Amino acid sequence: MKQQLEAIEKKALDAFAAASDPTELESLRVKFLGKKGELTAVLKMMGSLTPEERPVMGQMANQVRAAIEKDLEEKKQKLAAKALDLKLRSEALDVTMPGTEVPLGHKHPMSIVLDEMKEIFIGMGFDVVDGPEVELESYNFTKLNTPAGHPARDRQDTFYTTEDDTVLLRTQTSPMQIRVMETRKPPIRIISPGRVYRKDEVDATHSPMFHQMEGLVIDKGITMADLKGSLTQMVKLLYGEDSVVRFRPHHFPFTEPSCEVDVRCFKCRGEGQIDGHTCSTCHGEGWIEILGAGMVHPAVLEGCGIDPKEYSGFAFGCGVERMTMNRFAINDLRLIFENDVRFLNQF
Ligand code: DAH
Repeated sequence: MKQQLEAIEKKALDAFAAASDPTELESLRVKFLGKKGELTAVLKMMGSLTPEERPVMGQMANQVRAAIEKDLEEKKQKLAAKALDLKLRSEALDVTMPGTEVPLGHKHPMSIVLDEMKEIFIGMGFDVVDGPEVELESYNFTKLNTPAGHPARDRQDTFYTTEDDTVLLRTQTSPMQIRVMETRKPPIRIISPGRVYRKDEVDATHSPMFHQMEGLVIDKGITMADLKGSLTQMVKLLYGEDSVVRFRPHHFPFTEPSCEVDVRCFKCRGEGQIDGHTCSTCHGEGWIEILGAGMVHPAVLEGCGIDPKEYSGFAFGCGVERMTMNRFAINDLRLIFENDVRFLNQF
């Protein structure tokens, strides 16, 4: 029996030493110390011993059990420490390593230019106002001195939203002139940027939706000189001090006199040609049209309850895509709408 006990002890310690994980160790504990384990089996044979042998063997059995239990406990702790060490190692964080870069978006080129234009006019004391894209025909046309039968009102060009043509998607931001004059008293100085809609096919210079920025100034003694001064200032601040503007007579129903404003082509510097070839940016004109403007028509002022004998004013409307294309030398309008990141990342 003594040899059996010694053999169990040796076997158990060897087995613990070889165990590599806690589950294996647990099954070894059952194998040696459990109710049906090897040590219990030997103890069951105590009955067959003589009364003198029994206490000696009992003591020895207890020592063996204590030795096995002690070794088991030590091995358990060793394995736990090893597992913790592994876990810490695998989850270690090197805070000095560079992080994963999150790509950040940035302003769309047209928003950049629109913000620059707003900044310029806010600096001159203008308010920025917002207006509806779904507009009444009367605001988009009639009150802007554009009577029934005028070619601009054609169903071919305008998205009407009702059968009787009284509601439409605004074709210009000019109706905001009326909305402001009907609700504010002069002096008035506003700009109003926003989307406008026309039945245009999409090509390099046309889109059925585009952006305009309207401007309106009404006060006593406003003249064409104020119009020229303000718009020249805008162009110089936007395109640089050395840019050149030209005011060309034109016709708009809601201004009199009216003009269009051109900037000298930034590509050919007004020559119309580059190395003997027609400039592709201005198509040989040497100038690029950027906006329409004029002195607010007396009939429009009167219609809004402003006395044209006391007040006068100027208005202008420019295409924001056009301004953006000139500002960044972009040659195709569609690039502005496509939102291709390879294009957008260039700004
Ligand atoms: N609304 C005109 C257009 O879409 C542009 C324009 C011309 C606006 C003259 C004005 C203006 O305010 O005075 O073509």
